[in-house]
Amino acid sequence: MRRLALICAVLVGSAGASLAVAQEYVPALGDVMTAVQWRHIKLWFAGKLENWDLARYELRQIRAGLEEAVTFYREIPVELVAATVDPIKAIDAAIDAKDGFRFAEGYNALTDACNACHVGTGRSFIVIQVPTASPASNQSFAPLDSPQP
Ligand code: HEC
Repeated sequence: MRRLALICAVLVGSAGASLAVAQEYVPALGDVMTAVQWRHIKLWFAGKLENWDLARYELRQIRAGLEEAVTFYREIPVELVAATVDPIKAIDAAIDAKDGFRFAEGYNALTDACNACHVGTGRSFIVIQVPTASPASNQSFAPLDSPQP
């Protein structure tokens, strides 16, 4: 009986502890950035194949990731994050206009803003570029109404 009481106490205790952990969970900045990196790759291939719905979705994910970064990591200089706003707006407008040229321009500006922040936060060794090949070979980037490669 005492043993059962002890087990219950341990279970309740550990459930309480994991709840506390869940409430305080703060993702590591490197993990937030790794997610942003994936979205940055996917955004490129979505735009390149003119899959505008997917491009809009990935852009929203990038914006959310950057918002998450500044919410959790208040020491990040605000102006460096703000520098991503105009490129994101430009990409958004290019997606609405289904304009591949303006999309690429906005994408390059966003990539520059990623790197400017890495330089500004002492991470100049993290250099982002336009992806040359998709590492996500399990995802098709072509729009549904076009022939699948
Ligand atoms: C607000 C500044 C800021 C912006 C904007 C920013 N980053 Fe970062 N990024 C950082 C910092 C700081 C780190 C280092 C995190 C750490 O030390 O754990 C980082 C790390 C990274 C990493 C390395 C992750 C790893 O652990 O391997 C990648 C990849 C990355 N960023 C991609 C991007 C991309 C892509 C963009 C633009 C869409 C972007 N970042 C925009 C500040 C920024």
